[in-house]
Amino acid sequence: KSLRAYNTFGIDVNASAFISVDSVEDLRTIINQYDKEELFILGGGSNMLLTGPLEKLVIHINLKGIDVISETESDVLLKVMAGENWHELVMYSIENDFGGIENLSLIPGNTGTAPIQNIGAYGVELEDVFVQCTALELATGKEVIFDKKACKFGYRNSIFKNEAKDQYIITSVTLKLTKKDHKLNISYGAIGDVLAQRNITQPTIRDISEAVIAIRRSKLPDPNILGNSGSFFKNPVLSSEDFKRFRNNHPDAPFYEVSATEFKIPAGWLIDKAGFKGKRFGDAGIHEHQALVLVNHGNATGAEIWELALKIQKEIKELFGIYIEPEVNVF
Ligand code: EPU
Repeated sequence: KSLRAYNTFGIDVNASAFISVDSVEDLRTIINQYDKEELFILGGGSNMLLTGPLEKLVIHINLKGIDVISETESDVLLKVMAGENWHELVMYSIENDFGGIENLSLIPGNTGTAPIQNIGAYGVELEDVFVQCTALELATGKEVIFDKKACKFGYRNSIFKNEAKDQYIITSVTLKLTKKDHKLNISYGAIGDVLAQRNITQPTIRDISEAVIAIRRSKLPDPNILGNSGSFFKNPVLSSEDFKRFRNNHPDAPFYEVSATEFKIPAGWLIDKAGFKGKRFGDAGIHEHQALVLVNHGNATGAEIWELALKIQKEIKELFGIYIEPEVNVF
């Protein structure tokens, strides 16, 4: 079966077998019949690059459901099944006036994969609203609960990218959202700019969501039109020493202070500065409005995109002495 429609890069590779699963029970039955090496778990396909055919059983996680499992006067606990589309969940929260994920509007992918890379944008990360997730252990089929601490969240990182990598299938995610006195996050300058342009002085969560959508649409390509996986690389974090050296050579570079000893540099700026923005090598390219996003202009293979990524990585190392690490999972 071709996986082209199941990965946002739009890479046309085949899986030797494919099954879409819509119940946890069915999922457990399958897990118990196969070794974990024989399985490939597919969520929204929005954070991966497939570079060759998959000689595995691809399990498409199609578990659906959003339930309010408890609420108080001020908060609500939502249990969301892994196969729910993330942005549709954000739209559901806006409709119901549940606050906390409005800044995470328009992020591609499914809810079940959101904890793996601790999705984040415009000053908010999943961990800010995360309570726990349930997962099936591939080796045993047992259900395991990971609370927030157990997930070991970091910047675009969690236990599921480290110790627990390839060992669990996340089946549901529980979030705590606010019902009133929403804590709006407008720390990100561009949100404030959009609100000001629109003469909004008392923003609602819907206003924030709409501002984020406008910003994202202006610089990030729609995967339905131009294949991509969002930011291809993580923003590198430099020590004070490395940062000082870098700043001396590049006083115009933007940066965020992560802590007194850590400084994050936008990889998009480095790639842009290196002259890659908007370039195209066959059908593999760098987006014209955001250099951090690699794109498939139509028929690029995963290998061609990966080759371009390595070329960029090498060039950035040579020019700036900085190693940029892919954020996307490469198979
Ligand atoms: N920049 C350039 N040229 C470019 C791109 C960026 O000079 O081609 C500069 C911008 O001018 C700005 C700075 O780099 O000063 C930062 O750019 P931007 O605000 O677009 O954010 P980013 O650091 O490139 C990160 C996330 C995005 C997230 C935005 C907003 C990562 C790897 N990426 O991008 O996440 O939407 O911040 O919070 O942390 C994703 O993970 O897929 C993703 C899109």
